Amino acid sequence: MTTPGMPRRIDRRRFLQSAAGAGAALAYTPTIANVASAAEEPDPINVAVLGAGSQGRLLAMTARRISGVRFKAVCDIWGAYNLKWLSRLLKAYRHPVNAYLDYEEMLAGENALDAVIVATPDCWHARHTIACLEAGLHVYCETPMSNNVEDARAMLRTARRTGKLLQIGQQRRSNPRYRFCCDRLLHEVKLFGQLVAAAGQWNRAVQTPFGWPKGREVDEAVLKKHGYPSMNHHRNWRWYRGLGSGPVVALGSHQIDVYNWFLDARPTSVLASGRTNYHDEQTHEWCDTVMAVYEYETTEGGVTARYETLTANSHEGYFEKFMGEKGTLVLSERSDVGRLYPEPAIRREDVIKWAVELKAGRLTAPKAAMEMIERMTVEQLAQVLFIAPTPDPIVTGVSQAPSATVMSCGLAATLNKPHHQPHLENFFDAIRGEAKLNCPAEVGYETTVTVLKINKAIEAGRKLSFRPEDFVV
Ligand SMILES: NC(=O)c1ccc[n+]([C@@H]2O[C@H](COP(=O)([O-])OP(=O)(O)OC[C@H]3O[C@@H](n4cnc5c(N)ncnc54)[C@H](O)[C@@H]3O)[C@@H](O)[C@H]2O)c1
Repeated sequence: MTTPGMPRRIDRRRFLQSAAGAGAALAYTPTIANVASAAEEPDPINVAVLGAGSQGRLLAMTARRISGVRFKAVCDIWGAYNLKWLSRLLKAYRHPVNAYLDYEEMLAGENALDAVIVATPDCWHARHTIACLEAGLHVYCETPMSNNVEDARAMLRTARRTGKLLQIGQQRRSNPRYRFCCDRLLHEVKLFGQLVAAAGQWNRAVQTPFGWPKGREVDEAVLKKHGYPSMNHHRNWRWYRGLGSGPVVALGSHQIDVYNWFLDARPTSVLASGRTNYHDEQTHEWCDTVMAVYEYETTEGGVTARYETLTANSHEGYFEKFMGEKGTLVLSERSDVGRLYPEPAIRREDVIKWAVELKAGRLTAPKAAMEMIERMTVEQLAQVLFIAPTPDPIVTGVSQAPSATVMSCGLAATLNKPHHQPHLENFFDAIRGEAKLNCPAEVGYETTVTVLKINKAIEAGRKLSFRPEDFVV
């Protein structure tokens, strides 16, 4: 038994010793293949979900695939719908959860919790996260960390003071494909040479506002108590100032974080244009079309990074791009987007680096080319990659090279799990003392400072500077 502030101790991985124990564990073992076998079932981690909307459901359904995760409670103010829906779903998967309308009641009523997944609207992240940390629980809080810098700072300070783990839901940080591109291609092999620019976008088609089933509304008094003037505000909180942070912050908190991470730097300035070009400003208080430009000073030189969010046109979807003197990397959380393009002026010794990655199977080429690659040495391959005087089966995605025809390559490292699973696994492994968080509060805070400044730059109508101390608490 534990009380709030005194969480259970999680022991490291143990082996189940009895047949009865193995049987009990199997009751919780999902049927999919990529979980630890029952014989290696780790100690359970008892989890609550705070915010049972679309993201809370997705995270719960993903986390239930992870060995040892047991859901104990769900909390949501929308008792007649989302709370009921997720509680029933988890019970159907043999997680006997208690349902709560109020998070304080949940924290007082549940004495065996280890961790909470916070997936409420941005304006509630700080209050919910701080309360859970103060209750001695580890927290996985969705991104954006908060819709204001002060609250994000308070979350970080509370995590430090309580010594509890706070993972921010910027899940690309745990995606093996992103980690490979950053650690190996950019920093270890330096495949693209000196980086000079980055670009990224998240463009979406027009979406109809979220509705709700008639007769299942949240009670008006409950809405008001929680800061939602109407059911429409509760469902479409993203578009209202004070509730959400605007699409550019919600989406940019993932992708602009990738700029900070891959460049291993924080920006020195940002300028941005933001307008409402399509939607009705009465129902969409944040700009629906935003283009921002950051400047970075990296250890290797200046990098200019642009980022855009459209909400009335989805052309080319979402991706990030890093451009260097020797090549360009395009990657995305979408597994069908991931490609490398060498620059025409690439030198032979650099092509050898590309050839090594191809031979090692870390990059891919079309099937016919891969068959040739299998047969060639790295040296021979580099020769073909470097100069192909006539059209060759190996030559695809030809860059506009004046003197050298070079091949573009695909990324072999793909994620064969739901997008959020590695990040959740990292969180639970960290709770067991078997990993370090990939996106601790410090990183989430840096991201918050970086992306929220776009809204300030739009308001100011000019370029705004960052000081190094802005990113530090
Ligand atoms: N990491 C990602 O890729 C990703 C993707 C989508 C959303 N998100 C984030 O997840 C969070 C939730 O987004 P969503 O799409 O699930 O929103 P949603 O509106 O579908 O769900 C929010 C839920 O929180 C509940 N809620 C609101 N205020 C509450 C309160 N005070 N106490 C308890 N419950 C409350 C609502 O009733 C609703 O069920 C947001 O911060 C969003 O930015 C992250």
